[in-house]
Amino acid sequence: MAKKQIALIGGGQIGGVLAQLIGLRELANVVLFDVVEDMPQGKTLDIAEASRVDGFDVSLKGTNEYKDIAGSDLVIITAGLPRKPGMSRDDLLVTNAKIMKSVAEGVKQFAPNSIVLIISNPLDAMVTLFQKVSGFAHNKVIGQAGVLDSSRFSTFIAWELGVSVKDINAMVLGGHGDTMVPLVRYANVNGVPVMEQLERKYGDAAKAKEVMDAMVQRTKMAGGEVVKLLKTGSAFYSPAAAAISMAEAILGDQKRVLASCVYLNGEYGVEGYYVGVPAVLGEKGCEKILEVTLDKEEQAAFDNSVNAVTTLVADMERLGF
Ligand code: APR
Repeated sequence: MAKKQIALIGGGQIGGVLAQLIGLRELANVVLFDVVEDMPQGKTLDIAEASRVDGFDVSLKGTNEYKDIAGSDLVIITAGLPRKPGMSRDDLLVTNAKIMKSVAEGVKQFAPNSIVLIISNPLDAMVTLFQKVSGFAHNKVIGQAGVLDSSRFSTFIAWELGVSVKDINAMVLGGHGDTMVPLVRYANVNGVPVMEQLERKYGDAAKAKEVMDAMVQRTKMAGGEVVKLLKTGSAFYSPAAAAISMAEAILGDQKRVLASCVYLNGEYGVEGYYVGVPAVLGEKGCEKILEVTLDKEEQAAFDNSVNAVTTLVADMERLGF
């Protein structure tokens, strides 16, 4: 079977890890695009020169020309500035919107049949803008945030309970900002509710709630925690890993249920906005949205997060994008 092709737009920290992971998994051939001269060529050369040692065989091309992304099945976009300490994702709006507009024009011209996965922040606004400028079908433009936020939440739960992270199922909904909604009630260890385990551990419901609240808060601020430590940029290993799981689901038509930033057309009571919810990902992109019953408190938190997204999109539109 002919290999698929993934175009990576942005060859910085996340783009580089993406290219390496795609190679290691022989997921597809790679075209790595960046505006910086020679850098994407250097990165792909470096990764290709590891292929004999790692035992993988895919083609890796670095480029500064959009025409080289022609024929791509999937495009993953990380173009844009990352945060510096003290910045929120929303502080990146103007700079990254300008970049995203030019990227959308390039992808529209040279890879019009691709499915597009966006990582650039502020995520919900960047996904909205890409779809608007490209005119691509809504189901073919998806944002990566929920897989990463859910993985962060799962990691903290696993550490707290002292069990393998592989056995934690926990999901985060809403926008990719401080208002995101970790779903505590549905979080489980192979089917056993996490809250029940915490109550057993502490023998006290109030203490269990306090511990969970701290994990929820850490999840919401997890990106900022990494930025503060790195000082020169934002997280890159974990966003790349999250996007790879989505890419595998799409290219392999796996129908995986992954928290994704997808277009809501009435689901969850939201009309016409991109928001993070569980979605079935397959060869058509977002193939279905799974609705989850939310209690009053969860619904209020979700509505608050949707509000943050609609405000951000309105700000972007007011700025002329
Ligand atoms: N077209 C293509 N690439 C661009 C453009 C453009 N118009 N403008 C900038 N870039 C490239 C930069 O040259 C850089 O190599 O985007 C790359 C971004 O890489 P990094 O600065 O290393 O940022 P990274 O950590 O990869 O994060 C990228 O993802 O998670 C988000 O908030 C993060 O918005 C940021 C994005």
